[in-house]
Amino acid sequence: MALDGNTGAARFLPERLTLPELRRAAAHCEGCDLHRDATQTVFGEGPPDARFLIVGEQPGDQEDRKGAPFVGPAGRILDKGLEEAGIDREEVYVTNAVKHFSFTLKGKRRIHQKPTVAEIEACQPWLNAELALLKPEMVVVLGATAARALLGAAFRVTQHRGEVLELGEALAVATIHPSAVLRAPDRDEAYQGFLSDLRLARRSCSS
Ligand code: URA
Ligand code: SF4
Repeated sequence: MALDGNTGAARFLPERLTLPELRRAAAHCEGCDLHRDATQTVFGEGPPDARFLIVGEQPGDQEDRKGAPFVGPAGRILDKGLEEAGIDREEVYVTNAVKHFSFTLKGKRRIHQKPTVAEIEACQPWLNAELALLKPEMVVVLGATAARALLGAAFRVTQHRGEVLELGEALAVATIHPSAVLRAPDRDEAYQGFLSDLRLARRSCSS
């Protein structure tokens, strides 16, 4: 899990911490090796006054090509869940724990590869800065990678999903990743669990 001489994203952070400055700076991040083969940095997106911060794992194939988070199959599950839970996209800032796509090649196909702990840690300064600037009311933590970044190595989504947690000044709810919904043997059951966690996040906000 060596960082190959890279020391993480911290040295790429801009002097002036604003969301537009962060996004600009992140486009040139070389804090780990993932920037080499990926197309582009996929930074978070959403209004600066968003009450909800949604944190996924890392961009997938389509996100890497388009440069925006959650625009592929997992994004469609997320959008559906948010709508059914009554969470307006205008209230939501969506980002990922790791901001470059990680993959292995199988012929011409790019197969998603889970980010390593070293990559999660290298990328953490971007996520920390987004969290500090947005000051969301509620953080929705999607899956194990986001949980590792935000809630620590000992946290288990399967044990603590559907609980209202504290994360600094914010509240947080951890749930399964929408890609796990797509892979589940019983997709409908998995989706209903995901939706009920999103509803809990919605209910736990002030209005
Ligand atoms: N999965 C994620 O975790 N994030 C994305 O942006 C897309 C798929
Ligand atoms: Fe930088 Fe994160 Fe991309 Fe690594 S994954 S190069 S730390 S933005």
